[in-house]
Amino acid sequence: MLAPAAIADGHGHFTLDEIEVASPLAEEVLVEIRAAGICHTDHASLSWRRPLVMGHEGAGVVREVGAGVTSVKPGDRVVLNWAIPCGSCFQCRRGQAVLCEASRPAHVMHPSAGHAHAAGTTWHGQPIDRSFNIGTLSGLALVRAEAVTPIPEEVPFTSACIVGCGVMTGFGSAVNVAKVEPGSSVVVIGCGGVGLNVIQGARLAGAGRIIAVDLRESSLANARRFGATDTVLAQRDDRELRVVAAEVKRLTEGRGADYAFEATSVSHLAFTPLLLIRDGGMALQVSGINDAVSVEMPWFMWNKTYLTPLYGSCVPARDFPRIFQHYAKRELFLDELVTRTYPLANLTDAMDDMMTGRNAKGVIVF
Ligand SMILES: NC(=O)c1ccc[n+]([C@@H]2O[C@H](COP(=O)([O-])OP(=O)(O)OC[C@H]3O[C@@H](n4cnc5c(N)ncnc54)[C@H](O)[C@@H]3O)[C@@H](O)[C@H]2O)c1
Ligand SMILES: [Zn+2]
Ligand SMILES: [Zn+2]
Repeated sequence: MLAPAAIADGHGHFTLDEIEVASPLAEEVLVEIRAAGICHTDHASLSWRRPLVMGHEGAGVVREVGAGVTSVKPGDRVVLNWAIPCGSCFQCRRGQAVLCEASRPAHVMHPSAGHAHAAGTTWHGQPIDRSFNIGTLSGLALVRAEAVTPIPEEVPFTSACIVGCGVMTGFGSAVNVAKVEPGSSVVVIGCGGVGLNVIQGARLAGAGRIIAVDLRESSLANARRFGATDTVLAQRDDRELRVVAAEVKRLTEGRGADYAFEATSVSHLAFTPLLLIRDGGMALQVSGINDAVSVEMPWFMWNKTYLTPLYGSCVPARDFPRIFQHYAKRELFLDELVTRTYPLANLTDAMDDMMTGRNAKGVIVF
């Protein structure tokens, strides 16, 4: 079957072309993608040194299932999930599926055992990898059965697709990883697709004060809509966020916040959450920075915790239904996160709008 797709060239660019997608083998599912969200990591994936079918947020309709698949059937509406657990390794057995040692979800830059059979997706006659095992910027996605979770009838595909990375990462970093406590104080640096969902997670966890930090007034206005109680406009030349730290201290009885999350993708900000928290507080670097960054050790003093949460420690069968329940009760906003939709032909605009901060989330519709 032919399907339109966005293909990263591995050196910073992409092209739109058709790929050939085969029927699913055992334990695999073929999904007709209806909507695919754009995440900041899609920009990074352009430079992963090999061609890739782009995209890792998607929702659609199951078209075919392979032998042995009982979790879904053709016609089911599903959301895709990119961290595919094997179910039997050391980490999966102890309930940390996101750290699976067989499919290694953190190593998204490399081919993985979480991928459907390699010959099932080809471009110009050669197998081509699907980004994050799923490659959702494509009319058809051939994936492992563990990659799909059914979604409620009332959730539009455009709102469901973003749960598969941005929403899950932000919400889960606050709720599953930091386990934000009621009445606590939280800082979120970077209020894009991920940061806004840290804010929503912190609000649902009952945080008393949620301080949003961003370079853009428009992002701070969004942050207030999603639950920020205070906002601080950062300045580009405040590289260590010293000015922001002074403002955070002023808002937290001179102490610093209980939790600070960084979600900007900016390497030199990797350790700055440490400057915004109190002694014994928790700093979380959600961006997943890969560059070398130096830090002065006193930033860790005293008794501070520093974490790099992956995918909000997602357990799809537990977390996706929970997110959709909050959505149904209007406690967690999804529709409002989708600033704009685009046809695949306008992917360049969608990527540019993300890089310039024009969107909370941009979504490609098929
Ligand atoms: N840990 C994970 O599993 C995981 C999952 C998804 C995304 N990510 C990463 O999270 C990061 C954020 O992704 P996103 O999709 O939300 O990106 P985004 O582009 O939607 O949002 C980034 C936000 O940061 C703000 N920002 C940029 N520079 C800033 C600065 N100097 N000070 C304050 N704010 C600044 C921007 O204005 C924007 O609002 C990316 O690095 C992405 O790769 C990590
Ligand atoms: Zn992502
Ligand atoms: Zn495993």
